[in-house]
Amino acid sequence: MKREIIKTGDGSYTIYLPDWNEHYHSKHGAVQEALHVFIKTGLHFYLEKNSSKEVNILEIGFGTGLNALLTYMEAEALKVRVKYTGVEAYPVSAGELAALDYAEVVPGENASEVFEKLHASRWEEREEISSFFSLQKEKKFFHEISAKEEFDLIFFDAFGPRVQPELWSEEVFRNMFRALRKKSVLVTYSAKGDVRRAMQAAGFEVERLPGPPGKREMLRATKG
Ligand SMILES: C[S@@+](CC[C@H](N)C(=O)[O-])C[C@H]1O[C@@H](n2cnc3c(N)ncnc32)[C@H](O)[C@@H]1O
Repeated sequence: MKREIIKTGDGSYTIYLPDWNEHYHSKHGAVQEALHVFIKTGLHFYLEKNSSKEVNILEIGFGTGLNALLTYMEAEALKVRVKYTGVEAYPVSAGELAALDYAEVVPGENASEVFEKLHASRWEEREEISSFFSLQKEKKFFHEISAKEEFDLIFFDAFGPRVQPELWSEEVFRNMFRALRKKSVLVTYSAKGDVRRAMQAAGFEVERLPGPPGKREMLRATKG
């Protein structure tokens, strides 16, 4: 499928799929959205709720690696040990990564070096990026995930339900529920009623929370 690089509202870039009229991140601001949905409402909430210094994260849609880069920065700043797993069936190319230029907009002197390390790390192998952050990228389809009570936090960042409704079904959220340990959390940028009901049917407690600038709401699901 054709992919184009476009600039978003906060000056950071994202990938746009013209055939689906769909973006990898919010057109109002890619970095802004990732920080709000995944770092603040997901990572910070999980760590505070469980008074934890360790977290095992699964990302649904590794894509450009932006969420992973921001999580790395947070792990270093908070001195929290993060074990990160990113699942992706259609990896982004080296040319696209260079054009996205995330090192320019993500704070941190070593952002460029870290971003390169994240993308140079081998698929299907866990690599220690630093003493606080390890990464395993898995090149496969979401329906191939068979983890059981392994993760504490899921960043659910698939393309939207408008274009890929099959990825937001009760069956998919049952699989996510199974992959999570007790006292865990799943966050996503979508706030659709159908999505919330599919999560609830799969066993999650679901909250509707304020979204990032330009998006009214988002969802956070917890497994007790
Ligand atoms: C919204 S984008 C993810 C953005 C990403 N989190 C980031 O920070 O760049 C959704 C991602 O899911 C991937 N994807 C779509 N369908 C998939 C499937 N069935 N299995 C695995 N990956 C899929 C796409 O290639 C894309 O990278």
